Amino acid sequence: MDNIKQLIDELRQELNENNYKYYVLNAPTISDKEFDDKMAQLERLEKENPQYYDPYSPTQRVGSDITKSFKQVTHNRPMLSLANTYSVAEVTEFFNRVKNALGDEPFQIVGEMKFDGTSISITYENGRMTQAVTRGDGLKGDDVTDNVKTIRSIPLQLRQNCNYPQHFEVRGEILMPWKVFDSLNKEREYNEEPLFANPRNAAAGTLKLQNSTEVARRKLDAYLYYLLGDNLPFDNHYDNLMAMKDWGFKVSEAVKVLNSINDVENFIAYWDKERKHLPVATDGLVFKVNSLRQQLNLGYTAKNPRWAIAYKFQAERECTKLQSVSFEVGRTGVITPVANLEPVLLSGTIVKRASLHNEDIIRNLDIHDGDMLYVEKGGEIIPKIVGVNIEKRIPGSSPISFVSHCPACGALLRRVDGEAAWVCPNKYNCPPQITGKIEHFVGRHAMNIDGIGEEVAEQLFASGLVKNIADIYDLDINKLLSLDRFGLKSAQRIMNGIAESRNIPFERVIFALSIPFVGETVAKKIAFATKDIDTLMDMNVEQLSAIEEIGNKIAQSIVEYFAIPENRSIIERLRNAGLQMHTNEDATNMSDILSGKTIVISGIFNHHSRDEYKKIIEANGGKNSGSISSKTSFILAGENMGPAKLDKANKLGIKIINEEQFLSIINSGIADTAPQIS
Ligand code: IVH
Repeated sequence: MDNIKQLIDELRQELNENNYKYYVLNAPTISDKEFDDKMAQLERLEKENPQYYDPYSPTQRVGSDITKSFKQVTHNRPMLSLANTYSVAEVTEFFNRVKNALGDEPFQIVGEMKFDGTSISITYENGRMTQAVTRGDGLKGDDVTDNVKTIRSIPLQLRQNCNYPQHFEVRGEILMPWKVFDSLNKEREYNEEPLFANPRNAAAGTLKLQNSTEVARRKLDAYLYYLLGDNLPFDNHYDNLMAMKDWGFKVSEAVKVLNSINDVENFIAYWDKERKHLPVATDGLVFKVNSLRQQLNLGYTAKNPRWAIAYKFQAERECTKLQSVSFEVGRTGVITPVANLEPVLLSGTIVKRASLHNEDIIRNLDIHDGDMLYVEKGGEIIPKIVGVNIEKRIPGSSPISFVSHCPACGALLRRVDGEAAWVCPNKYNCPPQITGKIEHFVGRHAMNIDGIGEEVAEQLFASGLVKNIADIYDLDINKLLSLDRFGLKSAQRIMNGIAESRNIPFERVIFALSIPFVGETVAKKIAFATKDIDTLMDMNVEQLSAIEEIGNKIAQSIVEYFAIPENRSIIERLRNAGLQMHTNEDATNMSDILSGKTIVISGIFNHHSRDEYKKIIEANGGKNSGSISSKTSFILAGENMGPAKLDKANKLGIKIINEEQFLSIINSGIADTAPQIS
């Protein structure tokens, strides 16, 4: 097992244990900050290593959602959950149980959508929202009133001339619409923040933000599906829902009274298909006995009402034909098999390809040429091959065999001991490994040289101009202009990126080198521990493994990398080209150059993430603020600063500084530059 996997496993176990201590025993042994840091570390590792995805990882569940920083409130009536069913037969059993328990008295069922968000209980007094509380552990939850108030579809004040009770509670689901979810994840990807796995996690995470302005920006929505109180207007659930709608609440249009098991079946059949067109995520349907008197008679088990049941939709699954399996060579030589599929529509997107990850997975699924494959997309984003429809197998078709030679350069592949991955050993001559390394080197998380994508990297390599990453620094305008379809503008853009890359911090230079197993997190740790490249290059496995989070495997990989003369010469050339080969403590650490300054960060940045800039501001004595006011000293603005902010800054006459100007002020470390920004 490799070290990253081991680290992921240890973190998962540790987080599970701490979760139990906190939520079940109510006796945490580590601070919330330590817990959050570990969770963030795990999220990051899982994002960097998607092959270790596990639906049972602590990152994949919301759990009980109590957070220390919100006031805890005990629910007047516990917030119970519903029993789940997965087939029409089980729903029929529920229907018959209700029928028997009511002694054959007539009854109606209300069919509803089961919204897949995070549940909320909201109290109204005299028509005004007074408190909104999360489900928490069902008995007590977090007071998130300020955040809920930002949700436009939840009324703060009920509509005029309505006959609502003086005091009542509504329950419902807070949701992040698919559209908002997609654009939020795009933005997070850009800002190098971990992505949300599904709209449910995104809604729950958003509701727990400390900053309501950010909550408002995320445009949550809500459907309400339950009215509670002593003086309800009607004696049945359906009419109460309709009354709620009248008072100003968002109640789903899908709600329907069903009079027979036949109606129930039709409702299921209809929504199984139609839900795909809804703007929000749903994971099933809910069936509730309509009459409140009958609900009372049926009562509750320890955990669930007997008068309601949830029917869960099957994860969206399609069957499609395997057209071919291609084998792709990554920048570190790992071969990834990819299933090329006959295009199929799944949860709103067309799926044409799905990773098969490694040889073991192909063998376990027993995939043959031309098989019909089941592709699934649960609440997650990435489609997954979950099985084969054996009945449709072409007689005599052969099982997919893994390639023995590199599809790009023909080298004989090697299987790394104890691992499922096959690797092409031809590190310095295998084209996709080289172009992959070039692409990685110039990437936004690494040296951030704009203008070199996959195609240009291939062009640079094919033309012989760039055979390794150090050659990038021998490029000039004329060489670039000699390439096909290259204009002055694109050449200039690349040359600018190259010039600016000389300021990229040491940790990102380490990351940019493509040393196997050295991702962003590991690169940071190494940079922090070694401080400069010469120290790093001379370290042995033992010394390297002594660094926090660096296990034997990573240490070995680093030692192997620097043992190769070509790599040492690349490092020398990069050093001569002026790249940062040591940490620049002064850049981010301990000055008071910004003391007394209140700074607002806005827009999208290239050199550092927003969070890094926040830390740099603090480390240099400044204060971060979320909103522009007369107290703002200056705005650190990236690209796409919002027009409203720009307007306000101009009105108040507040200086706007771009990231290069900001970094040069910080790097100069001279307080005299400060007047520019005061
Ligand atoms: S009724 C006592 N109706 O599903 C019953 N719940 O496991 C109260 N949910 O925690 C719940 N859509 O978060 C009800 N139309 C709906 C629902 C719904 C989603 C969620 C809710 C609840 C969970 C039940």
